[in-house]
Amino acid sequence: MTTTIEVGMLGLGTVGSGVVTRLHQATQKIEQTQGFRLHLAAVAVNHLNAPRSVTLPIGTRLTDSIQTVVTDPQIQLVIEVMGTVTTAKQAIITALTHGKSVITANKDLMATAGAELIALAQQQQVDLFYEASVAGGIPILRTLTDSYATDQITAVAGIINGTANYILSAMTQGQSYEQALVAAQQAGYAEADPTNDVAGWDTAYKLIILSQFAFGQGPSLASLQPVGITTLTAASCQQAAKYGWQIKLLAQAQLAKGKLYCRVAPVAVPLGQALSQVSGVQNGVAVTSRAIGSSLYTGPGAGSTATANSVLNDVLIAAQHRLTHTAGRAFNLQKRDLPVASLAQVPQAYLLFSPVTSATLSQLTGVSVVDWRSFGGNGYQTGVLTSDQVRGLTATGAQLIPIAGSVVWSTAAATSQSAVATKMAI
Ligand SMILES: NC(=O)c1ccc[n+]([C@@H]2O[C@H](COP(=O)([O-])OP(=O)(O)OC[C@H]3O[C@@H](n4cnc5c(N)ncnc54)[C@H](OP(=O)(O)O)[C@@H]3O)[C@@H](O)[C@H]2O)c1
Repeated sequence: MTTTIEVGMLGLGTVGSGVVTRLHQATQKIEQTQGFRLHLAAVAVNHLNAPRSVTLPIGTRLTDSIQTVVTDPQIQLVIEVMGTVTTAKQAIITALTHGKSVITANKDLMATAGAELIALAQQQQVDLFYEASVAGGIPILRTLTDSYATDQITAVAGIINGTANYILSAMTQGQSYEQALVAAQQAGYAEADPTNDVAGWDTAYKLIILSQFAFGQGPSLASLQPVGITTLTAASCQQAAKYGWQIKLLAQAQLAKGKLYCRVAPVAVPLGQALSQVSGVQNGVAVTSRAIGSSLYTGPGAGSTATANSVLNDVLIAAQHRLTHTAGRAFNLQKRDLPVASLAQVPQAYLLFSPVTSATLSQLTGVSVVDWRSFGGNGYQTGVLTSDQVRGLTATGAQLIPIAGSVVWSTAAATSQSAVATKMAI
């Protein structure tokens, strides 16, 4: 007789509905390839009588009591797709202490309280998986742990917030920031309060997790100080695109000189780099490693069934582990303890936008304009600037956007601005 694994779920919104749909559509395939059945025993929601876009299978209990799901002795796996931090954290702690494996899509929670939850899961000898927390439908976390197991990653750079990428793509087509934001909200890509997405917080949460999987260590939220996209103008985006760059909200982490350099900020990605082609709500993660070299993973970073697919893959692995009594191994086993620094501190070249001429800017700030190249309108491509020079220029009201791949690690090279740059691969 085929074994049945009882599953409980918290949340029946965008992702939860996708889980119900995909679970129904994949029943046969799961049984055929995994040798067991998944049965959705109970689903907890906030508003019991709210209209639903999916019909629950016969026998699935709908409840507004999280507690009854996470303590139900029949339930072996809990899927947390309700969001929130405090409520979800408490629910996951209860589920783990009741011996259940947990699958979550909650990046805010995993970025801020992941260490505590991971330690608890290991102590309880159960699984805690969170593939969907970064880049939604792209299976990037398991790819980093499994497919780079013997390789050494040196840099990751990601467009990992579909909302911000949609807005920037629309601005590059000529819409103002405000118009693009309204369009994103109307299309269901941006929330009524878009702060998390446009101020870079969501990207920062995801970079923390991505970096833990790539390097065994993530930056702290406090050290990241993300820069969002709210001060960019359509004119700058269009001008940059016309002359060879796409401005993207980029999450970057890179190993160099014994440190982990990180940044979340708008970056000008040269059109020749594959990441520049990741547009609209698509996500893309570029990985540079010693053995493979450069690779790019692109796909939907959000969406009901795409995200549910990542959730369900985690569910299948956790279910297999329960059947083979092998649960309790951390999702990510890499651990390192390196000093973390900001990529913004490293000398690099910039796109500079200012109504003032480069000569006046030079006079005002003492920053040499040698090497600066006007590329039309009020845009300049600068030579390699130090962080002090960037601060000086920013104080004049100029907007500076770092150019991807222009970082110079050698101090001598940065000062002379003439030595061959050791370029950062993204
Ligand atoms: N949307 C995506 O494409 C996507 C992609 C990757 C990761 N994620 C992550 O996945 C999670 C869920 O996102 P979502 O877009 O599916 O959210 P959503 O559409 O807002 O759905 C949230 C669900 O959780 C339920 N819920 C909220 N608070 C609750 C509480 N205190 N008790 C019981 N149920 C509660 C809601 O119940 P009611 O329906 O009754 O209000 C709703 O069904 C979040 O952590 C998000 O960051 C989402």
